[in-house]
Amino acid sequence: MKIVRTVAEMRILARQWRREGRGIGFVPTMGYLHEGHLSLVRESKARTDVTVVNIFVNPTQFGPNEDFKKYPRDLEKDAAYLQAAGVDALFHPDAAEIYPPGYRTYVEVEGLQDKLCGRSRPGHFRGVATVVLKLFDIVGPDRAFFGAKDAQQVLIIRRMAVDLDLDVEVVTCPLVREPDGLALSSRNAYLGPAERKAALVLSTGLRWAEKAVAAGERDAGRLVAGIRSIIEAEPLARIDYVEAVDPETLDPAADLRGEVLVALAVFFGKTRLIDNVRLHL
Ligand code: PAF
Repeated sequence: MKIVRTVAEMRILARQWRREGRGIGFVPTMGYLHEGHLSLVRESKARTDVTVVNIFVNPTQFGPNEDFKKYPRDLEKDAAYLQAAGVDALFHPDAAEIYPPGYRTYVEVEGLQDKLCGRSRPGHFRGVATVVLKLFDIVGPDRAFFGAKDAQQVLIIRRMAVDLDLDVEVVTCPLVREPDGLALSSRNAYLGPAERKAALVLSTGLRWAEKAVAAGERDAGRLVAGIRSIIEAEPLARIDYVEAVDPETLDPAADLRGEVLVALAVFFGKTRLIDNVRLHL
């Protein structure tokens, strides 16, 4: 596996692969890899000729009071996982490579970036869309792989790809959970043992919602209230939002019909976790 630190070097490598007619798969990450990331790598390897994984803790997607500085990092371990998974290149640029002095250009996906997580993390999706567009331009992938846990993120990236005519297929891969139901996230590493246990209310709430809908519930307000009451029964949990929305517009779903995304964000201490389930009615 090649470890690439500069934009110029990454472009040369990708250009060479394209000349050889090899399809490039791309998995953008912020590192501290877990099974969720590795499932994206496996999908990329299965569907493309060469796989590039990016590890870059992107400063522009963190708010001033968020966890940019303490975001977990372990490059050595990550590189070992990626090597074992058969990744062709690890792209690990410095912040100055991606945002040179005087940097001023940002991408905004209007109408989607300010909903759900965007409400409590202003500027977050502007940072995500910007870095992903830059990475797409540098790597030039045929396909890029994202996890369904970040449902709003994938929607925004898909929208950006369509709106800007990007020549890349955005592939959404299933959310991966621990055996007890907790959605995998690099931020789970922040949880103390009591918070880790408490965090199971998220998947419990979402599972309850799936069952309620299977039993005939069609009122979005009642569904959201039911999930909230399960989470509120856990003293360590503090709800940021629980919403049932249209998966394409992220507007609240008045009644439960067609496709519905039930998404939530909940704090356990200072750790903010997200989770979601897609309902097909
Ligand atoms: O999902 C993430 O890890 C990040 O938001 C991404 C897509 C790598 C952009 O920094």
